[in-house]
Amino acid sequence: MTQITPIIIHTAFDGHVHLRDGEALRTTVPHIASRFGNGIVMPNLKPAVKTVAEALAYRERILSYVPSGSPFDPLMTLYLTETTGSDELLELAGSEGKVVACKLYPAGATTNSSEGIPDVEKAYGIFEAMERLDIVLCIHGEVTDPSVDVFDKEAVFIDRYLRKIRETFPNLRIVLEHITTKDGVEFVESAGPNTAASITAHHLLFNRNAIFQGGLQPHFYCLPILKRDVHQEVLIRAATGGMGNFFAGTDSAPHPKNLKETSCGCAGCYTAPQSVEMYAEVFDRAGAFDPGQGGVGIGNFEWFMSKTGPTFYRIPVSEGYVTLRKETSEVPPDYPFGESGVVVPLLAGKTIEWKAERILRGGN
Ligand code: NCD
Ligand code: ZN
Repeated sequence: MTQITPIIIHTAFDGHVHLRDGEALRTTVPHIASRFGNGIVMPNLKPAVKTVAEALAYRERILSYVPSGSPFDPLMTLYLTETTGSDELLELAGSEGKVVACKLYPAGATTNSSEGIPDVEKAYGIFEAMERLDIVLCIHGEVTDPSVDVFDKEAVFIDRYLRKIRETFPNLRIVLEHITTKDGVEFVESAGPNTAASITAHHLLFNRNAIFQGGLQPHFYCLPILKRDVHQEVLIRAATGGMGNFFAGTDSAPHPKNLKETSCGCAGCYTAPQSVEMYAEVFDRAGAFDPGQGGVGIGNFEWFMSKTGPTFYRIPVSEGYVTLRKETSEVPPDYPFGESGVVVPLLAGKTIEWKAERILRGGN
């Protein structure tokens, strides 16, 4: 491992985050704002955020929990349904950068996706309007076909649906969310400048062995599910390589402890408070911080964490900086969450090797 510290990057951008609603915001918002200056907020509440008015009201609820010393700009998304109309899309386009994308959930693909799109091909009218209005389409890229192996759902989605969407709407900006496979990386690399992908810290740090190490580990269960190490290696190369449209998206997805540690647990890993440190760990282990050792330097880390996402979404990079020092600390067992519960962070009780801190002064 290299020993270059501290590392200073522009304030990070989270390309995909779940903040939930109500009392949960008291936990999730300060956590995300302690590391990130802005982020793409997922709309899969119950009920889902389907209109611009709902997204703007949700944005205000989030803003009311942003700590005064840690500005955070929630960039909202609309949850696509079969009935999303062009009026709604027009309103989104006129929302002055407050609502920035629409999210396609194939119905049943993941947590709170039942209101999503049952047949992706029937949404082409929506995609056509989005392309015309230059609205970003975020895609949960997994098929819902129960006959497809859970580890293949992303690759099959790309072949069955995504290639055709890409070809049919060449000017539509598409984010393939939280990619987990070699297939996802190769697709994005070959699909041109209007296609990007977010990558989580946990899919970079772990592979599917983590779900079963020493017993069943429910906190490692997320969707898309962790894949084999060969996929993890390709993801690491994509993230650290500084090429193409790959950027950080934590997919931090909190669930109360009792709904994770149970006989039918929810999918989602809670990483927001440790995610920047986890990404740093990935780059450090890959030798990517040290050009002298064949790595690519801190610049690629900064692009991945702070610049590639905003460039793709055409928004400014957040003001201020994040510093990272190589310093070991223990991750707490849980955090208060919601009315009376707790949420267990992915690395609860483990140590992490980096310590991140936001600095506001001196921003550009
Ligand atoms: C997310 C959630 O809990 O909302 N879960 C997950 O496993 N990632 C939904 C999602 O992004 O798929
Ligand atoms: Zn998610």
